[in-house]
Amino acid sequence: MEMEPAMSYVKSLKSRESGQEYPIEPRTVCDIDFSPVEVAYDYKAMQGNVTRQSIEAGPLSLWRYKDLLPIEGEPKAGLHSGWTPLVKADKLAAELGVKELYIKDDSANYPSFSYKDRVVSVAITKAIEFGFDTVGCASTGNLAHSVAAHAAAAGLHTFVMVPHDLEAGKMVGMSVFGPKVVRIAGNYDDVNRLCSQIADKYNWAIVNVNLRPFYTEGAKTHGFEIAEQLGWKLPQHTVLPVAGGTILPKVNKAYKEFIRLGLVDDNSPVIHGAQAQGCNPITTAIEEGEEIFRPQKPKTIAKSIAIGNPADGYYVIKDILNSGGWAASATDPEIIDAIKLLARTQGIFTEPAGGTTLACAIKLIQSGKIPKDESICVCITGNGLKTLEVMENQFQAAPVIKAKIKEFDEVIVQGNNAAATA
Ligand SMILES: Cc1ncc(COP(=O)(O)O)c(C=O)c1O
Repeated sequence: MEMEPAMSYVKSLKSRESGQEYPIEPRTVCDIDFSPVEVAYDYKAMQGNVTRQSIEAGPLSLWRYKDLLPIEGEPKAGLHSGWTPLVKADKLAAELGVKELYIKDDSANYPSFSYKDRVVSVAITKAIEFGFDTVGCASTGNLAHSVAAHAAAAGLHTFVMVPHDLEAGKMVGMSVFGPKVVRIAGNYDDVNRLCSQIADKYNWAIVNVNLRPFYTEGAKTHGFEIAEQLGWKLPQHTVLPVAGGTILPKVNKAYKEFIRLGLVDDNSPVIHGAQAQGCNPITTAIEEGEEIFRPQKPKTIAKSIAIGNPADGYYVIKDILNSGGWAASATDPEIIDAIKLLARTQGIFTEPAGGTTLACAIKLIQSGKIPKDESICVCITGNGLKTLEVMENQFQAAPVIKAKIKEFDEVIVQGNNAAATA
């Protein structure tokens, strides 16, 4: 018996500015207006077919939203990615004096512990659909880790390109899967420029260059999950980190798609951006009332979001302002404090990108941009175990004692450190 082909609601690639349409193919920008191209769907055909029930019947992974993702057949990567916890963060809420606070925790994502497992699941599936045998990426670390893991599982050749000075946990994390790791003497923007040339010259799928329209769609699943896990409701405020500018506009798009399909009520959700002080082109533009950002040279401990010339920065600014949101930046010490606060109150260890997002959320709450009595979701996108060096020197070394109850009593219970074993 012949199998029915899996139905897809994908229509075309469409220029974000002129609406010029292209077939589904590896492509980054429109040939006519040079704006990014985006996947367009047939939402009319989805009505009545893509429902809460159809989604709830899907797997406990990001692929439960397959109908809203740009793949043709069955997923070929990331079968266990996504469906990360949405934590009701009551202890943190009490500490911040807010009524209803959630943490969307992608530090628990599989297999590489960051939100990048979402975009990579879609990109690698698409690379296989297109028939590529080699994949790559320009990365600040987490993307390379995720591409290397997913590509190893899929049996693809892999080249990951990164700045030369990344954290050890990220370097080991990506290297263990056996990709060709290319360290570039420069920052992410230099890496990205080289990757555009590589994508042009070699017939490889560079996931965030020539597969970018498909890759970015994977980030919507972070937003879909927030809405579904909240009981088919949108938070009033969502705070997201901004690096290249993928996740923020795509969570916004996810909310809009769910509203359009009648899966959630339209509460006019407000989207806010978070950046490190040492790399804050988007926050600066918003604070100065500019629609166009000025590129920067990054200098921050938040290396994973140190992108001074964000590819989709223009759309980040637009989406934040159109939603009625705002943006903030956090200094390195504020980032560290926020990492500790999240760990102490909720038992979640995030990397500096997450520290940045929480520190900025706190600033937005304190400045009244986020009212204390409205629901808030803070999006944690990466895991602290990959960036241990930023927390070095933050804690005193624990005393060493003999395995004797007397020493435990004196040193640990009574706090007499002088009695500790040298
Ligand atoms: C942990 C983490 N959070 C957030 C981001 C934000 O990325 P983007 O704005 O490109 O979606 C990145 C990007 O590398 C990241 O690694």
